[in-house]
Amino acid sequence: MQSLLIVGYGNLARSILKGIEPNTYEIFVLGRDFEKSQKFAQDFPLHSITPVENIQELKEAKPIILLCIKPKGLQTFSCDFPLTLVYSVMAGVGVESIIKQFPNALAYIRAMPNIGALVKKSATALYAYAPQNSSIQEAKEHALALSLAFGNAVWVESEELIDSSIATSGSSPAFLCLVAQALIDAGVREGLNATQSSMLVKATFEGFAELLKTLNPQEIKTLVTSPAGTTAEGLAYLEERGFKGILEQGAHRSTLKAKGKI
Ligand SMILES: NC(=O)c1ccc[n+]([C@@H]2O[C@H](COP(=O)([O-])OP(=O)(O)OC[C@H]3O[C@@H](n4cnc5c(N)ncnc54)[C@H](OP(=O)(O)O)[C@@H]3O)[C@@H](O)[C@H]2O)c1
Repeated sequence: MQSLLIVGYGNLARSILKGIEPNTYEIFVLGRDFEKSQKFAQDFPLHSITPVENIQELKEAKPIILLCIKPKGLQTFSCDFPLTLVYSVMAGVGVESIIKQFPNALAYIRAMPNIGALVKKSATALYAYAPQNSSIQEAKEHALALSLAFGNAVWVESEELIDSSIATSGSSPAFLCLVAQALIDAGVREGLNATQSSMLVKATFEGFAELLKTLNPQEIKTLVTSPAGTTAEGLAYLEERGFKGILEQGAHRSTLKAKGKI
């Protein structure tokens, strides 16, 4: 069975593991605190996880390494034995830096998941790099299987586009929180109580997510907007004040920040 070494035992490691079927991999966990690794293993009894104190314990296993640590922790872990794959979720850490720590992997994956991972609904952007291009297909299959365990995934062609996905999915849940809270406040302003307003907005988001599976946003907008009607009036007000442009600019700012340009 393929060995999988999870480096880090935080929220994302837990979210990913929850989606992995037991007995798919022989799983190991490594972190800077062995007691936390042990606790992590105990929390997932069905996966029979082995906590390790030193990465060298996996020397003969040609493992997949799943890097789920904070970027500043990368320097703590390295090895020069052969690896099947290094799959990193670290925001803002390029493949080049990962190769320095793990020079002998067949392939390297950068993944940018989002908060949806907590409920197996991550929107994950994926980029693959293999020093020898022949390994890339197999690496992509491994990476996609891992990614689908905690949501949906989209391949991108360049590493730069991983940062671009901050706009669409990395930061966007926070932008949608602003929209949701504004609509709850609007309901209260119009006379609904906070519970009613909140329940109605949540149900609207659920219905909207379901509709998006088969319709694009423009089609949904057309369905809701009668000519010269109430929704058209509200939309026109928002458009005149640049609502869409401001949202787009906000997403752009987040991406610039991820790229270290501001
Ligand atoms: N959560 C998300 O939605 C999300 C989305 C996209 C990308 N990411 C990326 O996923 C990674 C993990 O995020 P998370 O949400 O799982 O964070 P988390 O719950 O805070 O877990 C962080 C992990 O990193 C380890 N760590 C922190 N500083 C370290 C250091 N200096 N040396 C060694 N290990 C260190 C922690 O170990 P200790 O407990 O021992 O400190 C822990 O295992 C981050 O790189 C983040 O950029 C997360």
